Amino acid sequence: MSNELIRIEHVTKTYGTKIKTDVLKDINLTFEKGSFNWIIGASGSGKTTLLNIISGLDTATSGKVKIDGIELSTLNIKERAHFRSTHLGFIFQFHYLLPEFTALQNILMPLRIQKKKIDQSVKDQALELMNEVGISHVSHHYPNQMSGGEQQRTAVARAIIGQPLLILADEPTGNLDSHSAESVYQLLRKLHQTYKTTFIIITHDKITPEKGDRLLTLKDGTLIKDVIY
Ligand SMILES: Nc1ncnc2c1ncn2[C@@H]1O[C@H](COP(=O)(O)OP(=O)(O)OP(=O)(O)O)[C@@H](O)[C@H]1O
Ligand SMILES: [Mg+2]
Repeated sequence: MSNELIRIEHVTKTYGTKIKTDVLKDINLTFEKGSFNWIIGASGSGKTTLLNIISGLDTATSGKVKIDGIELSTLNIKERAHFRSTHLGFIFQFHYLLPEFTALQNILMPLRIQKKKIDQSVKDQALELMNEVGISHVSHHYPNQMSGGEQQRTAVARAIIGQPLLILADEPTGNLDSHSAESVYQLLRKLHQTYKTTFIIITHDKITPEKGDRLLTLKDGTLIKDVIY
């Protein structure tokens, strides 16, 4: 119980008023602190909707989501944004790096948003993280001067620099070739080992779950399979 990070109770999401589409149907789910979770399912099965509801980027039609004991729907917009910036890290299919900033500056961005003082020791920490994710050679490159894999590794470093409780990734390798995709997945696993961060990763890729991984399968808005390897 004490190791529970996320609790999802009777979550539904319905779009439309006249013609209703039930995109999520009574989802009940908990995630443990430090767990490594995959979500798979056909296009349109509700994966992104579920992830966005967990992060508070979207709201459920009914039901509750608690992260670390906090029910997001009870927070106002400002509080929710603060919660996201201090507790969550995001990785999307597209990197969303800021084009006018270097890799290093992009990685430091979450700390700037949190109004942390960026002194030399913080920069050194970011450089060490860049080394860890294999991009120290592009620290002063702008996003358009990096390969797709390097851009996505930068986005991964940016997601983890603030040591969030939870990293949510929506098809983080969707724009990469299979070789770069595999190396990004290996990187996420390595970071999981090092930082014990909880990960929830949506993927379309054929993945081979490792021991301890959890694999959730959504179909038409329903959780049809939940396996821990
Ligand atoms: N704003 C919206 N208005 C109406 N329907 C929506 C809206 N957003 C999503 N949907 C519908 O909800 C369903 C689930 O969408 P969602 O993006 O969660 O799917 P997904 O599993 O992430 O798919 P993909 O693998 O293609 O990314 C889809 O049928 C989609 O058309
Ligand atoms: Mg999606």
